[in-house]
Amino acid sequence: MEREPWVVGVSGASGTAYAAAVLRGLLAAGEAVDLVVSRAARLTLLDETGIPFRDGHWGEDLAEWLEQPLDTGKPRVEGLDRVRYWAAGDLAAGPSSGSYRARGMLVVPCSTASVAGIALGLSKDLLQRAASVTLKERRPLVVCVRETPLSGQTLRQLVALDDAGAVVLPASPGFYAGTRSAQQLVDFVAGRVLDAAGVPHDLYRRWTGGLGDGRAHVS
Ligand SMILES: Cc1cc2nc3c(=O)[nH]c(=O)nc-3n(C[C@H](O)[C@H](O)[C@H](O)COP(=O)(O)O)c2cc1C
Repeated sequence: MEREPWVVGVSGASGTAYAAAVLRGLLAAGEAVDLVVSRAARLTLLDETGIPFRDGHWGEDLAEWLEQPLDTGKPRVEGLDRVRYWAAGDLAAGPSSGSYRARGMLVVPCSTASVAGIALGLSKDLLQRAASVTLKERRPLVVCVRETPLSGQTLRQLVALDDAGAVVLPASPGFYAGTRSAQQLVDFVAGRVLDAAGVPHDLYRRWTGGLGDGRAHVS
C-alpha cells in the first residue's frame, strides 16, 4: 500500500508539548507522518524543552523530544520509523505539491504569523506552502492556534481559514475530563486535534452526559 502520511507542521507558537502529544498519538494509531518544523519553532522548542532541533540530527532530536515527559513517567514512543522529516526551507519537498500523497495537515501549535500566512496563501516556507496545498486539494487542514488575546486581524484571518474549509481548533483545553495534571490538559487539546482528523486515540476521557463523571474517575 502506498504511504499516505499526515503532514504535521510545527510553527513558532508556544505549546510544543501539543505537537509532541499529537505526534505520539498519530504514531500510536499506526499513521505515517511527514514533519515540518518552522525556523521559529526551533526557538520555542529550545525554550520549552531545551532541545536544539537540527536538520542533520532530526531523528535523534525528535526521539528525545517525544520521549521527554512533561510530568512524571516516560511516555512510550512507537513508530518513529514512520516519520519523514522535511526542512522548512525545502520548497521542493514532497508536501509542497498537490500530487504528493497526503491525508491532510495538522498545524500544531499554529502561530498567528502562520495563521496570516496560510490565510493569505503566502507560502513563505514549506509549512505555509503545504497548508496552502492542503486547502487547494480539499484535504483536511486543522489549525491549532495559540495566542491570547487575539487581535481583530487574526480573528478575521481565522474566519477566512474556516471559510476555506480548515478546522480552526484553538489550543483551549477543557477541564471536564477529570484533569489532574498539565499533561492531561495538553492531551485534551491533542486529542481534539486527532478527533478533527478522524484518528482514533485515547488521549482524554470523553464527556458521557453525567455532571461530575470526570471527577468521579480521579483517584
Ligand atoms: C518563546 C517564544 C514564544 C512564542 N509564542 C508565541 C505564541 O504563543 N503565539 C504566537 O502566535 N507567536 C508566538 N511567538 C512568535 C512567533 O514565533 C513569531 O511570530 C514567528 O514569526 C512565527 O513564525 P512561524 O509561524 O513561521 O513559525 C513566540 C516566539 C517565541 C520566541
